[in-house]
Amino acid sequence: MEKVKKLLAEHGQVQLLKFYDELSSEEKANLITQINSIDWSFNKDSSTHISDKDSVIEPITALSVDEIEKSRYEFEKIGIEAIKRGELCLLVLAGGQGTRLGYEKPKGSFNMGIENELFIFQLLIEHTLDVVKKCDTWIHMYVMTSDINYDDTTNFFREHNYFGYNSDFIHFFVQELNPCTDLNGKILLNSKSSIAMAPNGNGGWFSSMHRCGILDHIFDTPIKWINVFAVDNVLQRIADPVFLGATISCNKMCGSKVVRKATPEERVGAICLQNGKPHIIEYYELSDEMMHQTNEDGSLAYGYGVILNYLFPINRLKETLDIKMPLHIAKKVIPYVNDDGLLIKPEQPNGLKYETLALDLIHEMDDCLVFEVEREKEFAPVKNKSGTDSIDTARELLIKNGYTL
Ligand code: UTP
Repeated sequence: MEKVKKLLAEHGQVQLLKFYDELSSEEKANLITQINSIDWSFNKDSSTHISDKDSVIEPITALSVDEIEKSRYEFEKIGIEAIKRGELCLLVLAGGQGTRLGYEKPKGSFNMGIENELFIFQLLIEHTLDVVKKCDTWIHMYVMTSDINYDDTTNFFREHNYFGYNSDFIHFFVQELNPCTDLNGKILLNSKSSIAMAPNGNGGWFSSMHRCGILDHIFDTPIKWINVFAVDNVLQRIADPVFLGATISCNKMCGSKVVRKATPEERVGAICLQNGKPHIIEYYELSDEMMHQTNEDGSLAYGYGVILNYLFPINRLKETLDIKMPLHIAKKVIPYVNDDGLLIKPEQPNGLKYETLALDLIHEMDDCLVFEVEREKEFAPVKNKSGTDSIDTARELLIKNGYTL
């Protein structure tokens, strides 16, 4: 106990023991175990960021929808051959908490249907099955969950018989959690005996796969490419042979699906070059001038927004395992126990989550195929309850694309 007190004092977090004396011995033991398992580097950014003054940002060229159309047949053929050789696997990023959606269960289990059932996971599986049929081979699909939604996710797949997918080819693993703090960096309790924890962002997927032993399995297979994507874009094509074939044929180290920004001000990360390497610049980092800068043909110079659908080469990823990813600190709504021991569920962001992001991995690649897809056909994210990028907008786009809901 003395050791724990000293540890907390060193890190300025003694408030975690505020209710300690009121706890049962089992609760006390649980809290101490939790405290002892905190990785105290969770809020420290030890990455080697390029400082702004050394950073040269430039536009990047993309393969446009028209160019892709012209070579679709060749790209698809190359992609299908690679998939037949077993060179592609999939990674679904499904560890998030979906706080903006306010849906307690895993986002993938959300029913997009109105009169029929059409779950998000089901849509992803159906898209993959199209490719499986075309290539006449199963594709390994890895699903990243967190401790918080692991059981719900795996049970959901089991209850729905994996939506017709071969369960030997679906693998689940768990990402790490980080403590959440208030706006002053003090770790919050979510009960008198437990710490408020949240998944550590979607950037740690490769190291989590490594920690769970999945990489050892992958290295024993012919898998060369991993298609990483967010769970919540219900229209995106995954395991897309055209995307894979184009990345291989253009001899690029990795690939990123992008859409043209709807307006210069749209709040999406734009792909560009930083000191010659692929990079994603956040909308709030663009100066006014850059935001409106145009190419010779009048298109926006920083006009390709990323949609969190990437192709990464396994070999290069292996080399990134020792790299410290930049830390992103996000203001979020975090339920917490107040000084009177009452559980508070705030309406407005009241605390901080500490995350690494998948988009930062792009920067570790030498080059990237920027692959444009049509917004109306491949971008329908389910982020919010209503308004932009919501259940309603995604349903509308599904209907436009021929789905019966
Ligand atoms: P978002 O950043 O949109 O987060 O995740 P979210 O958890 O879905 O929603 P909010 O911000 O709480 O409302 C983009 C993708 O990354 C995954 C999500 O599941 C989603 O597919 N993700 C996010 C993880 O896998 N792990 C994380 O720790 C965070």
